[in-house]
Amino acid sequence: MSNYHKQTWLITGASSGLGKSLALEVLGRGHAVLGTTREVQKAQETFPEFEETGGTWLPLDPGSKDTYDRAVKISESHDIDVVVNNAGYAFIGGAEDTSEDEVRSQMEVNFYGPLRVIRALLPRMRTKRSGSIVLISSGAGFIARPARGTYSASKFAIEAIHESLSHEIETFDIRVLIVEPGAFRTPFSSRLITPAQYQDNGGFSEGYQGTAVEQMVRGMRNSTEFMKLIKGDPRKAARAILDAVEGGHEYLRLPLGVDCVVALESKIGSLQRDLDLTREVARSTGVDE
Ligand SMILES: NC(=O)c1ccc[n+]([C@@H]2O[C@H](COP(=O)([O-])OP(=O)(O)OC[C@H]3O[C@@H](n4cnc5c(N)ncnc54)[C@H](OP(=O)(O)O)[C@@H]3O)[C@@H](O)[C@H]2O)c1
Repeated sequence: MSNYHKQTWLITGASSGLGKSLALEVLGRGHAVLGTTREVQKAQETFPEFEETGGTWLPLDPGSKDTYDRAVKISESHDIDVVVNNAGYAFIGGAEDTSEDEVRSQMEVNFYGPLRVIRALLPRMRTKRSGSIVLISSGAGFIARPARGTYSASKFAIEAIHESLSHEIETFDIRVLIVEPGAFRTPFSSRLITPAQYQDNGGFSEGYQGTAVEQMVRGMRNSTEFMKLIKGDPRKAARAILDAVEGGHEYLRLPLGVDCVVALESKIGSLQRDLDLTREVARSTGVDE
């Protein structure tokens, strides 16, 4: 590897799935890793290789309002080169079936969580004029499928912050990478949350029986069937992310998985179709001078 230097990575939600694979990969390449988790003792028991290979656990719940203050303290005591906002979960349910509290909880973890962490870490990165900010978003960060509106809203919103940030901090030599995984084999799908008030009906209201909402909620809750559709290997995702950060990527978004490439092409195609159909109307709405 050219220009190798040992970096300190902070990875949120490192106790399982993509965060765990990334932590092992980063440690394996000789870097230091601070892994955050809501429950340090549990993480020590379920993922002992992390500390055995030099990783350090830090308690952090991205969905909690004190996360900004905690992350400021972490930044004061550790010189972090790369931050990976990885912690997150998916709420799956139709818009009409979802309570405002359920939307808020999703936003606390997937939107405010990463925002709290980057706001706390940026001052030090800006002062030393280097650093990498990595967001683990999702294919749901650019395409909003039925029953995924709340999850997509959280990922679209946090992608917007990162896209804007990439321009704001370019001048400080801090890089931003938005990772958009398709479906990967992690415990993620077993942790899906569906609308609380329709649990007896399988996670959707009667009015949405036989619709795309039922199909999505049922499909994703049937983990045996759903798991068969999941083709992504978290270790390969981890390697791709690490290669991008170490190699100095020239792009903002990194899609991962064949399914994500197909979804991205479909989204670009639908945007292009809409623009082709509306270009003339759009152009006709200026003031007459
Ligand atoms: N797997 C996929 O198919 C897939 C696809 C697209 C995007 N993603 C994204 O990838 C990221 C990692 O997910 P994963 O697949 O690795 O799933 P995972 O194995 O469930 O890991 C998610 C991590 O996030 C933390 N977390 C989960 N729920 C949380 C909550 N309510 N509050 C705070 N922290 C919470 C957990 O950390 P602790 O328990 O240690 O605190 C957990 O280790 C997520 O942001 C997810 O949206 C995953």
